[in-house]
Amino acid sequence: MLEVFESTESQVRSYCRKYPVEFDRARNAEIWSVDGKRYIDFLAVAGSMNYGHNNPEIKKAVLDYLAEDRIINALDMYTAAKEDFLVTFRDQIMVPRGLDYKVMCCGPTGTNAVEAALKLARKNKKRNGVIAFGGAFHGMSLGSLALTTDRTSREGAVVPLENVSFVPYDGTLDSLAYLKWVLADDHSGIDKPAAIVLETVQAEGGINVASVEWLQEVRRICTENDILMIVDDIQVGNGRVGWFFSFERAGIVPDMVTLSKSISGFGLPMALLLIKPELDIFRPAEHNGTFRGNQLSFVGGAAGIRYFNAHKLDQEVRRKGEIIRRFLEEEIAPLDGRLSVRGLGMLWGVDFGAIDPAMAIGAVHQAFDRGLILEVAGRGDSVLKIMPPLTIGDDTLAEGLAIVKQAVQAVLA
Ligand SMILES: Cc1ncc(COP(=O)(O)O)c(C=O)c1O
Repeated sequence: MLEVFESTESQVRSYCRKYPVEFDRARNAEIWSVDGKRYIDFLAVAGSMNYGHNNPEIKKAVLDYLAEDRIINALDMYTAAKEDFLVTFRDQIMVPRGLDYKVMCCGPTGTNAVEAALKLARKNKKRNGVIAFGGAFHGMSLGSLALTTDRTSREGAVVPLENVSFVPYDGTLDSLAYLKWVLADDHSGIDKPAAIVLETVQAEGGINVASVEWLQEVRRICTENDILMIVDDIQVGNGRVGWFFSFERAGIVPDMVTLSKSISGFGLPMALLLIKPELDIFRPAEHNGTFRGNQLSFVGGAAGIRYFNAHKLDQEVRRKGEIIRRFLEEEIAPLDGRLSVRGLGMLWGVDFGAIDPAMAIGAVHQAFDRGLILEVAGRGDSVLKIMPPLTIGDDTLAEGLAIVKQAVQAVLA
């Protein structure tokens, strides 16, 4: 059954090696393989299915659009679908939060938005350097990869990954003291950067949650030093950690924000760069691309925002996040004193690093055998990553968490 994948598809394929079945149907937080086996989804397609697989309200908007022979791809021409998305995003997301950004439609995946942010920051500040943080993940194209820290990803490049300096993230060494020294000491050896790029919660980096104080201080340092603050909200935006934008919890306003993954509502490719108006200086066509106008993504995106607000998903995330937190602290952490659990909203990690990092992938396999899809993250892939669709039912969430416990018990034994 899987023969054609192994004989014909490139060996670069990765997730399929952890979940070696052929998937077919999917509904909210459940996925079925072609042979009918049911899996609970605690991966949410790496955060791109926050509103659930085939969310019926979003699917209806997409199906209606298709049924009426509306335009599907349109470069960056004006369309009714894009108008509806922009109006919805402005009036239902930005205005209520007091945010004023220009919206740049980028090529279809997250890394395209990161590349656009880097180019625009450098163009604005006429400086080539950028500061990023240890544990960062920002994508796989060369500019984004230069910001991404894990060795396996970087080894794919072979060419130099340049113009980025790294500073320890919150929780590692004295992050802020180091950042301040880099900028203040005229012998630090690091030139003043155009921008500081960060995730407010590092997801791929191992579920590292930056404190509110740290985020506020980085914002202050950027302002004081005329450096742009770019928040990459590709994985932890769209409600994942309890707010539509992950930085809302710190009450800060970044200069640029990248969005992708769940922004299309329906798992369709889409990436946006939000830009403070005064930084919006690309000339027409100076940063171009064919697939910046996937109309189905705009349709799903607008429906996704309406769904988010109508169902008060931010509040739901905080409620279910508490269920996850309590379960991990009461049922998982006591299984072995060397386990640590951490997270925010509906993104959590169980860190096996102090016992044996390989146990995390072992738990992924144990869980998969029991019908649960989980992923690993962080240094040495030592962190078991828990990231269900935000719309998961309470019963399914409880069922999945019970399997997490069985899987952890199995590897500890
Ligand atoms: C924070 C962050 N930035 C950027 C990316 C890259 O997005 P894409 O894989 O769609 O290019 C990812 C993907 O996981 C991500 O988590």
